[in-house]
Amino acid sequence: MMANSRPIGVFDSGVGGLTVLREIEQILPREDVVYLGDTARMPYGNKSPETIVRYTLEGASFLLDKNIKLLIVACHTASSYGIDILQEQLPIPVIGVIQPGFELLMQSTRSMRIAILGTEATIRSKVYQNLIEEHYPKAKIFPVPCPLFAPMIEEGLVDQVFTKQIVEHYLSCLRNKKIDAALLACTHYPLIRSLIQETLGENVQLIEPARVCAEQAKEWLVSSSLANFQSTPPRYEFFSTDETDKFKQKMEIFFPVRHVSVFLRDWKSVNNLKSCNQTFT
Ligand code: DGL
Repeated sequence: MMANSRPIGVFDSGVGGLTVLREIEQILPREDVVYLGDTARMPYGNKSPETIVRYTLEGASFLLDKNIKLLIVACHTASSYGIDILQEQLPIPVIGVIQPGFELLMQSTRSMRIAILGTEATIRSKVYQNLIEEHYPKAKIFPVPCPLFAPMIEEGLVDQVFTKQIVEHYLSCLRNKKIDAALLACTHYPLIRSLIQETLGENVQLIEPARVCAEQAKEWLVSSSLANFQSTPPRYEFFSTDETDKFKQKMEIFFPVRHVSVFLRDWKSVNNLKSCNQTFT
């Protein structure tokens, strides 16, 4: 296989990473993709750092075996704990969502009063807070863990009466904080963007890193002469570590498939994710 016709790997704890894949499809329409959603072990957001790192390395190892040329870690929780280790250990480049999210957030705020919305683990990792404090010591950061958001959205419960109440429950604390930007630091949150916007008010810009992440991938592919110029439609291959049918149903919420060919594999072929001891040989 020619180096530039190798696929891009996209990793997420579940189907949420499809919100990132949507952007990859737009920005890199000729690239083949292998997507792995670790649905059997999702959510990562309530797991310990050690467990998140182990799962992330196992997922990356699975995708490496698919001969990918670049790995995109769509999951904020996995990126928060695993991106440095992956970038150090993998023989291919690894792009996460943290740096794009940070850059976009800081380009967008004027008041330097900003909120970070994410899973418990992402917020606890302080990955965004540390980056911001290091580069913008005057920024006032309001980190808000929203543990129910991802499971609720994963179940497709995005427009129920209680969805609004749950959004209100987590985010009403931000109302008097005079923030002007909030980072949606979780793959799932774009799916309830309008509710979050309604709750925070229209003066607050909601920041999603997915597009910038896809653009960074494009930059790397072009600068390394590894972009795919195929004229046939790209091949998208999806793997999930648990029930494929459920994954397919959820795909319809997150990523209605239009132009791409989809090959969905039975989870049994992937349930032997290699146990990985933080080394890639
Ligand atoms: N994909 C995760 C993230 O972006 C959310 C779901 C989970 O907790 O696994 O943080």
